[in-house]
Amino acid sequence: MDQKIFIKTFGCQMNEYDSNRIFDAVKQIGYIKTDRYEDANCYLLNTCHIRDKAKEKVYHEIGRVKKKFRSKKKPLVIIAGCVAQAENQEMLKREPYIDLIIGPQAYHKINDMILNYAKKQKIEETEFDAVSKFEYLSRIKNQTSKSSSFLTIQEGCDKFCHFCVVPYTRGPEYSRPFNQIIEEAKNLVDQGTKEIILLGQNVNAYNYDNKRLSNLIYEIEKFKQIKRIRYTTSHPRDMTGDLIEVYKYSKKLMPLVHLPVQSGSDKILRLMNRKHTVKTYLEIFYKLKSINPEIQFSSDFIISYPGEDENDFKNTLKLIDEIKFINSFSFVFSPRPGTVASNLPIIDKKKSFEKLEIVQDKLYKNQIEMNKSLENATIDVLVENRTDDKSKLFGRSQHMTSVLFDGIDDLIGKVVKIEIQNSNRNSLFGITANQSSQKVA
Ligand code: SAM
Ligand code: SF4
Ligand code: F3S
Repeated sequence: MDQKIFIKTFGCQMNEYDSNRIFDAVKQIGYIKTDRYEDANCYLLNTCHIRDKAKEKVYHEIGRVKKKFRSKKKPLVIIAGCVAQAENQEMLKREPYIDLIIGPQAYHKINDMILNYAKKQKIEETEFDAVSKFEYLSRIKNQTSKSSSFLTIQEGCDKFCHFCVVPYTRGPEYSRPFNQIIEEAKNLVDQGTKEIILLGQNVNAYNYDNKRLSNLIYEIEKFKQIKRIRYTTSHPRDMTGDLIEVYKYSKKLMPLVHLPVQSGSDKILRLMNRKHTVKTYLEIFYKLKSINPEIQFSSDFIISYPGEDENDFKNTLKLIDEIKFINSFSFVFSPRPGTVASNLPIIDKKKSFEKLEIVQDKLYKNQIEMNKSLENATIDVLVENRTDDKSKLFGRSQHMTSVLFDGIDDLIGKVVKIEIQNSNRNSLFGITANQSSQKVA
């Protein structure tokens, strides 16, 4: 009988990529995927440590599983990802229901860990070994056959922003070999992928034998079947001239730049150890805009970082007004264990959430305006799948906005022209352009 695995993923796209690859790995030892955790023989939680309560969320989740399996044979419980890396042995001690702990750079060992568990030995693997991880993962096929697929090219971070756990949970910066990435891209293309989203905690820091992200984009663009290329998440310091130039020459690199700024105040950026200024950020913005005015920016913001005063906050609002970001993420600062900012004096919670609301209102207003401006326009949409209730097709605009419309399944995986009729903050609603001309005729 097949073994069934249930995988639940928290956190960033890199965790989503890892979860897909973990499944590619365990398939080799006879696992199939189940969407119902109560049917699973193996329950894997891929965790995120970026903000508070991450750890508690994991124990809460395990509590839920425990309850469900009270009168049944217990599944093998595996904790993977960034909380696993940060907490390791502690988790095995605190929650005996957990069987295996595996950090983000040890996934090449997962099958051995599962097979050896037959000996009932609890194991924790949290060594940083990105080389072996990716060597192993490139030997087994990436079987994500979606129109839009993730491809991790870089892992870890050497920048040590004072608020961030990533350098501790993902280890030092590592760039995968150029040819290994192109092989994986080819494999995704062979399975029908039309869009590749290149991933890394600092994706634009990619550097393998002096080959940079720009070289990768040009190489992937050569696949005829690939219609769109994106990358995330980038750091302002690594927005080098060669990457900016790609926007001049590439036909497939999408005109949305996700470039986290965190704050609009140089004082706060300095306290955060961001190593960029508002001026250098704006220079990148205006350079890109002069290459292609259709380029839009999205960003990440941290509100109420220790030391932020009213003037710093005003500067963040000013920057939002100037750049008119679309689709941004914003969070109140959350102290993370082991980071430089972990013990700094916290700004009043109520005040912080009021500020967050002000920032989000502004960001949402930009989003609504941007979507509204597309009503009656015809835009290119890469169709990804059906909506959950199967009633509509779902795709994305060049700027990553969700687009919903009626259509046949044959359109999935194609770039189609959609006439936008309506919009809200998160989505655009339309009809296929030939449908609209039929209506007129
Ligand atoms: N490498 C990217 C960069 O340099 O901006 C960011 C990657 S991080 C995984 C994603 C986002 O989480 C950050 O941009 C930041 O806004 C947010 N974040 C990280 N640590 C945080 C903290 N301690 N409190 C609140 N937000 C945090
Ligand atoms: Fe975290 Fe990004 Fe800073 Fe690295 S560059 S420490 S991932 S916020
Ligand atoms: Fe979270 Fe780790 Fe990603 S902390 S955001 S899952 S790198």
